[in-house]
Amino acid sequence: MSDEACSDQQSAPLGAVPRHIAIIMDGNGRWATQQGLPRIVGHEKGAESVRESIAACAEAGVAYLTLYAFSKENWLRPREEVSGLMVLLNRFLLDNTEDLKAKNIRLQAIGRLTDLPTSCQVALHRAIEATAACSGLTVILALSYSGRIEIVDGIRSLLREVEMGHLDKGMIDPETFSKHLYTRYYPDPDLVLRTSGEMRISNFLLWQISYAEIIFMSKLWPEFRKADLWSAIDEFSKRQRRYGGI
Ligand code: IPE
Ligand code: IPE
Ligand code: MG
Repeated sequence: MSDEACSDQQSAPLGAVPRHIAIIMDGNGRWATQQGLPRIVGHEKGAESVRESIAACAEAGVAYLTLYAFSKENWLRPREEVSGLMVLLNRFLLDNTEDLKAKNIRLQAIGRLTDLPTSCQVALHRAIEATAACSGLTVILALSYSGRIEIVDGIRSLLREVEMGHLDKGMIDPETFSKHLYTRYYPDPDLVLRTSGEMRISNFLLWQISYAEIIFMSKLWPEFRKADLWSAIDEFSKRQRRYGGI
């Protein structure tokens, strides 16, 4: 999308709103470097953009928001950056759970969650439990997430059902397979948004985004505000989705 289009939409859009938005929140490190600050400060600022995007989705009437917060590949980063990110995740969960609950927002998570430090797993499960009955926006954090590993985990889960005699292998189709993914409780994303100007998917929701609309914006994630999300929804509402038809 053009940068003009992602600047100053001041109110929630009135057109068709995507039911599920998935965001690749990229550019924290570059933002910090541009400011002459350590990369971790970019991640800290990024947490404010997370709150903004949640509020913007809630106000616009989006039902599901998936946030790519940490990929399986991100474990390869320097140890100090990884541990700093885990501290921030913990802090985010502790600081925001009550507010999410008060706003009727349900928190969920996908990925290999057992890879996370125990303190993060505990905070995450507390936040998920505390908000389990909330019926407004569902926010799904993708943590230690890899689209390819999710697909492999799905195949393993299917094979187990076949071996136990609960599933006839002739019955396997895309719908059946979708029920074995981490995302089985959620509809597929309608819109994928990536900040920072990178035009790639980076192993995010590979199966689920087969017919998603994609918007790349050059803004870095720490600069992302409500208006940017609303402008993206506005652009989405102008797209014609054809699913292979005419
Ligand atoms: C996204 O920002 C946050 C995570 C991947 C955890 P980056 O840290 O990738 O920032 P850049 O891409 O290096 O600027
Ligand atoms: C994708 O960003 C992962 C997250 C936003 C959590 P990366 O910065 O890790 O992706 P690449 O390395 O540029 O593809
Ligand atoms: Mg990046």
